Amino acid sequence: MDRLDAAALSIPGVRVRVVERCGSTNTALLEEKSADCVLLAAEQQTAGRGRRGRRWHSAPGAGLTFSLALQVRRPVRELAGLSLVAGVAVSKALRALGVARAALKWPNDLVVDGAKLGGILVETRSAGAATRAVIGIGINCRRDSSLGLRLRRKIASLDQFLSPPPSRNDLLKKITSMLLESLDVFESKGLEPLRREWEAMSAYAGQRLRVRLADGRVLSGISDGIAEDGALRLTTRNGIKTVRSGRVVSARVA
Ligand code: BTN
Repeated sequence: MDRLDAAALSIPGVRVRVVERCGSTNTALLEEKSADCVLLAAEQQTAGRGRRGRRWHSAPGAGLTFSLALQVRRPVRELAGLSLVAGVAVSKALRALGVARAALKWPNDLVVDGAKLGGILVETRSAGAATRAVIGIGINCRRDSSLGLRLRRKIASLDQFLSPPPSRNDLLKKITSMLLESLDVFESKGLEPLRREWEAMSAYAGQRLRVRLADGRVLSGISDGIAEDGALRLTTRNGIKTVRSGRVVSARVA
């Protein structure tokens, strides 16, 4: 099994730490007061967290689990776009490594042919005038058949598409450098240029989606890209609707 190695991960401007085990790399970085750009990667998380209060499971060495914490200088109202920014970066990194069909499911699931390859959890907290963002990323690297059964959904892993798969150190370096690049664009230009990239890598562009909204209602419509603030746009029987919080539960070619 390849091991994460902080010495192999020197990234200019980023303080890199690798730990054998921690609860959640997101939680650990959220608790720190530092204003530096810090990357924390863990061989194993004992309480990995996913979106909407779910757990994130990854057997030791089978996945890449890490978080990047940094100050983000954009107005607070724009920060919902951060999870799309991160999705664009990870999808581009995966494509550059050879996973040609890596795609994005709104807001920021990484999928290949409908199966989940990875997920992103972005959390923020205000730090004086600035905002500190913690961007947590989990990628399934090696096949773990029990995971799909346990989660009762289609799960993909990198070793299905790349033989041999890249080392987790190389994967981490590539994703982090793409992430820093996309965050630079976001800080200087906002979401606009990145939402076009997101749309170009959307797994379900133009498809009919059913979306479960935060209040439990289900909305059905044709996927019509991303709104200026990162919301999902759907063309429904009642016109264009934008979804800010919800989950795509199904997709089919319209
Ligand atoms: C999701 O798809 O629900 C998001 C999953 C995010 C998982 C990553 S693993 C590293 C970081 N630490 C956590 O506890 N969660 C994120």
